[in-house]
Amino acid sequence: MYPIFLEPLCLERVTVQIADLPPSLQGTKVVQLSDLHYDGQRLSERLLAEAVEVCNQEEPDLIVLTGDYVTDDPEPMRDLVLRLKPLQARAGIFASLGNHDLYFRRSRQIVTEALTGIGIEVLWNAIAYPLGPDLAVVGLADFWSREFHPGPVFAQIPPQIPRLILSHNPDTAETLQQWRADLQLSGHTHGGQISLPDGTPFPQLLEPLRQATPKSMHRYIPLLRECAKVVKHWEWARGYHRLGDNQLYINRGLGTYFPGRIGCPPEVTAVTLIRA
Ligand SMILES: [Fe+2]
Repeated sequence: MYPIFLEPLCLERVTVQIADLPPSLQGTKVVQLSDLHYDGQRLSERLLAEAVEVCNQEEPDLIVLTGDYVTDDPEPMRDLVLRLKPLQARAGIFASLGNHDLYFRRSRQIVTEALTGIGIEVLWNAIAYPLGPDLAVVGLADFWSREFHPGPVFAQIPPQIPRLILSHNPDTAETLQQWRADLQLSGHTHGGQISLPDGTPFPQLLEPLRQATPKSMHRYIPLLRECAKVVKHWEWARGYHRLGDNQLYINRGLGTYFPGRIGCPPEVTAVTLIRA
């Protein structure tokens, strides 16, 4: 179903302090796109073109994409990558995959090959050093896949090296507290799609109701059931959060599910890294 309520694209500019960031990387700009859901219903050609243009106008050092390129059928990837091809970043474009990119058995391969075909590097439990050896970019397998095993990935990064983590589902932040994650970039929640003016996502408002309802009843209340399925931590639905020494930023995504967005516009994020 097509969304009814739509809002114009919003560029969010954030500055994040990174411990041990080398002076040469002071001011590095990372632009993030997430949750495109390019399926003919949830993302218009116009919004996609605008998002690509906004990304390039930022003249980023790095572009990162944090998953859910499609919704179920991976075939639209072939057309999506034609639209993403104009993206330009000085040090390259890196991507992690989301749960929707694994919908069918063949999905992961089709999505990965399409992105790789236009020069976007897909990081699935993998590390890249596009800005030199002093800043790692880590892409993790999706949280709901059977391959979300961050331990062996983090073990490969020298402890003094700061790192950016691409992890589609922000719930992974809870697990990642065991490791150094200077800045985790996520999506997946679409910001909750409907928010109060103070940014509180609608699903978070259901929390008192959820807690007051016996667990065995949750599956009979569609709203509770569906919201609980998306994430456990609705408090991490959008924006910047600090968890101990780790930092987390959640992009509200570009694609929109029915009934639409209210107080939660689609987002391009431009993150400027500065030394802590
Ligand atoms: Fe997702």
